Amino acid sequence: MPHRPYAIDEMISAKSIAARIEDLARDIQADFANTDKLVVVGLLRGSFVFIADLVRELDLPVEVDFLEASSYGDAMESSREVRIFKDLRGQIEGRDVLVVEDIIDTGHTLSHVSDYLQTKHPARLRSIALLDKPARREVDFKADWTGFEIPDEFVVGYGIDFAQRNRNLPFIGKVRFTDDAA
Ligand code: PRP
Repeated sequence: MPHRPYAIDEMISAKSIAARIEDLARDIQADFANTDKLVVVGLLRGSFVFIADLVRELDLPVEVDFLEASSYGDAMESSREVRIFKDLRGQIEGRDVLVVEDIIDTGHTLSHVSDYLQTKHPARLRSIALLDKPARREVDFKADWTGFEIPDEFVVGYGIDFAQRNRNLPFIGKVRFTDDAA
């Protein structure tokens, strides 16, 4: 697919993200206060920045694991078919688990992954998403914690890509195509 030219406008600053993560970490800590160890599962690839910042705010015994699920490939629209490319390394049976996602759009990914992880019989399974686009929801799924509700805009940065680019931006930005101004 040839690339259309685009610009990125800041939507959520790095400072706002950091402040929100401090609040979220406090809530998660309260919820899992009595845990012997929390398995924090990042969904690759988009959550790698968020999980890195989130676990460093958690004053709990934590284990980090990753799972790769994808429904988009390099396309802009979800294929609605969620595939698991990489499974967890560790066992989660009888463990406390927090799934970390960058964004909930249609809801297919997190809903599918949560159902899949439940089959492994964790003690408690919770989920957190930094961003939530409720206007796009196709399946009835709500994360236990959400960082920011956003409108139906195409966003990049802080782990989120556009055709594998822009994951390294420290803020969340909105994509604005520059060839459709007319
Ligand atoms: C994106 C994003 C979420 C998912 C959300 O992942 O990181 O995991 O889509 O969309 P949904 O709610 O409509 O399922 P993607 O499949 O692009 O993989 P990536 O994390 O590797 O970028």
